[in-house]
Amino acid sequence: MNPVKVGLLGLGTVGRGTVTVLRRNAAEITRRAGRGIQVSAVAVRDTARARSAGFERLEISDDAERVVRDAEISVVVELMGGLEPARTLVLNAIAHGKHVVTANKALIALHGNEIFAAAQAQGVMVAFEAAVAGGIPIIKAIREGLAANRIEWLAGIINGTGNFIMTEMRDKGRDFTDVLEEAQRLGYAEADPTYDVEGIDAAHKLTILASLAFGVPLQFDRVYTEGISHITRADVFYAEELGYRIKHLGIARRSARGVELRVHPTLVPQRRLIANVEGVMNAVLIKADALGPTLYYGPGAGAEPTASAVVADLVDVVRTLTTDPGNRVPHLAFQSDALSDDPVLPISAVETAYYLRLQAVDRPGVLADVTRILADADISIEAIIQKEPTAGTPHVPIIMLTHRVLESQMDKALARIEALDTTQGKVTRIRLEMLNSA
Ligand code: NAP
Ligand code: HSE
Repeated sequence: MNPVKVGLLGLGTVGRGTVTVLRRNAAEITRRAGRGIQVSAVAVRDTARARSAGFERLEISDDAERVVRDAEISVVVELMGGLEPARTLVLNAIAHGKHVVTANKALIALHGNEIFAAAQAQGVMVAFEAAVAGGIPIIKAIREGLAANRIEWLAGIINGTGNFIMTEMRDKGRDFTDVLEEAQRLGYAEADPTYDVEGIDAAHKLTILASLAFGVPLQFDRVYTEGISHITRADVFYAEELGYRIKHLGIARRSARGVELRVHPTLVPQRRLIANVEGVMNAVLIKADALGPTLYYGPGAGAEPTASAVVADLVDVVRTLTTDPGNRVPHLAFQSDALSDDPVLPISAVETAYYLRLQAVDRPGVLADVTRILADADISIEAIIQKEPTAGTPHVPIIMLTHRVLESQMDKALARIEALDTTQGKVTRIRLEMLNSA
């Protein structure tokens, strides 16, 4: 049988990894897919650079529109990134009856509802395994492997660059900017690395995971997002002293009140496996009712790990080319007419425990004032430490862990603490999750 012809949009980190894996493992991939998979056209912006990078034998142009309209091509693989022209090209590919594979989480998180509706109307597939957690087959696991379960919550380290930066800073005392530059050199970071460090990339991925897990539409604009740039060495150190690690997590949880979608630094007990996920590795912990807790771990970014997911999607698409579109696995795990309209809760309505760090004057009664304000707000304290005075100031750092409380209640208490004459500046707050299987 003739090979399936693929058009590739983008030949950067992931595009090159994809061509390399397709070539190196061609025989095994053909045995799995039932047909060969041949990259027959590639589009980039800078054709000379792409040709000089060892891919001279590929047909490379700067005309992405021509690739998506090419009658010979059955599958378009979008590895350009960004929203436009990626969105228009993907929709045009679908309109021309092509199946699509993409690693573009921003595109799926923001325009997935529109793209999947277009694909369904055309009877084509849009596969996006590489969009979440790099090479970990997390989408297949949730969509197919956990299909029997009601998923209660999930929590994931889903940005490799951010985890790499935090690990290198903690373990080697390296500088933030220096580690970020290394992540860029290694091909881990987004074209705009603020997406990695400010949590936007993780929010894109969480949007996708939550839809797959709970059967809700993609709602990127409802994700509460905080990055890692304000985490200090002191907080990392104090957290460790209290038996916790700070991890940048994406958390999705559903309750009778609605769905929580949040990305933020989080204290996690050191003994949890997920607290020990280091470097560019990602991990997603899922609590499902029948199966219980499961943890999915692996490389979260980089050329060949991501290509592994792209090529697996290609194999899936080729295997199902001839199946009735109505019998394919739904894009978002649930049938498109059975998505739920559970509301997404604002962060003020979320309940978590907290790590708090404040600077207070070192004199009798000050700590009592702080703890009284917390008690008035019904916030109970789990642990408290007062450190040595900060050099050259009359202030001492006070670190507290609290029990679970509504964020809106904590907001009010912190405003009162910050207004005391005896405290200085803003209180640092980092949410804390036990992530036990309850
Ligand atoms: P990259 O290294 O920056 O490569 C992007 C490629 O797309 C380049 O070949 C670029 O061509 C081409 N391109 C960009 N805009 C284009 C346009 N308008 N027309 C034609 N070609 C265009 O990016 P990447 O790291 O491979 O990431 C690609 C996608 O995979 C992104 O959506 C990213 O979020 C996702 N992803 C990346 C990783 C990772 O580890 N890197 C992991 C998972 C998912 P020129 O070089 O000629 O400009
Ligand atoms: N920039 C992303 C990360 C790439 O570091 O996780 C993988 O999606």
